[in-house]
Amino acid sequence: MSDGAKRVCIVGASGKLGRYMVRHALDRGYEVVGVCREQSVGKLDAFAGRMTIVPGVTNDPEVIRKAVAGCGGVLVVLVPWGVQAYSTGTAQAVLDHAEPGARLVFSCGWHITRDGKDVYSWKLKAQAKIFGPLARLFRFADLDDQVEACRRVFASDARWTVVRGSDLEEGESQGLPVWSRHVGDAILESNKTRRVDFALFMVEALEHDELVHEAPAIVGCQTPSALAHAADG
Ligand SMILES: NC(=O)c1ccc[n+]([C@@H]2O[C@H](COP(=O)([O-])OP(=O)(O)OC[C@H]3O[C@@H](n4cnc5c(N)ncnc54)[C@H](OP(=O)(O)O)[C@@H]3O)[C@@H](O)[C@H]2O)c1
Repeated sequence: MSDGAKRVCIVGASGKLGRYMVRHALDRGYEVVGVCREQSVGKLDAFAGRMTIVPGVTNDPEVIRKAVAGCGGVLVVLVPWGVQAYSTGTAQAVLDHAEPGARLVFSCGWHITRDGKDVYSWKLKAQAKIFGPLARLFRFADLDDQVEACRRVFASDARWTVVRGSDLEEGESQGLPVWSRHVGDAILESNKTRRVDFALFMVEALEHDELVHEAPAIVGCQTPSALAHAADG
C-alpha cells in the first residue's frame, strides 16, 4: 500500500477474526472502516470512537461501495453462510467497488485450492465430505459458495491475496505465521494457527507485495512442523 493510503476497510469486522484484524490494523496506525451486520455492531463497542462502522450485510454492493471508498486496502472475511451465495456476493462486491489498485486480502480455509496441486490428508477430505453436504442440507452453509468466491478472486486482475487458514485455536499471539503454496507441504503438517495470528498475517499482507496473486496456506510459526522446517533450513 502507498503511504497516502492508510485507510483500510475490514469486511466482516465483528467476527472473531474480524475483531483481531481491527485491533492489529489500529495498532499499525491505519484508519479503519468496518462492515458488519446491524445486529452485530455492539460487538465492536471496544473500538468505539477509534473506527468507523458501516452497518449492513457484506454482500450488499451499496454497503460495500460506501465502505471501501478511499481505502487503500480491504480485508475480507469470506464465510459461506446460508445458501444464498453470501461469500460470492461479498467477494464480487469488493472486486467491483474497491479503489483501483487497492490491496485486497481475503480469508478462507485450506480446502480452497488455487491450482489443484494441494494434497489433502484423509482427515481433511473426510471433514469436507461429511460437513459439506450436511451444511447444505440444513441450509446453514455452502462450502461451494466459498469456492466460487475464491474462483472469482483468482480470475481477477485486482491486487489480491487469498490467505488460507489451517485449523484455528484461541490463545496469545505466537508471531507471524509461516506459509507455503500447497497444502501437503511438510512445513504445514501441524495444521494449527492461533486466530490472532491468522488476523496478523492478513493485516501484514497489506504491505507485502510479494503476496500479490498468491494464495498462501498458513500455519503457526511455533508449531512443530514450522519449527522443524526452520531447523532444517
Ligand atoms: N473456524 C475455523 O476453524 C477456520 C479454519 C480455517 C479458516 N477459517 C476461515 O477464517 C475466517 C473466519 O473464521 P472464524 O471461525 O474466525 O469466524 P469469525 O471470525 O467468527 O467470522 C464469522 C463471520 O461470519 C459472520 N456471520 C456469522 N453468522 C452469520 C450469518 N448467519 N449470516 C451472515 N454472516 C454471519 C460474522 O458476522 P457477525 O459478527 O455479524 O455474526 C463474522 O463476520 C473464514 O474465512 C474461514 O473460512 C476458519
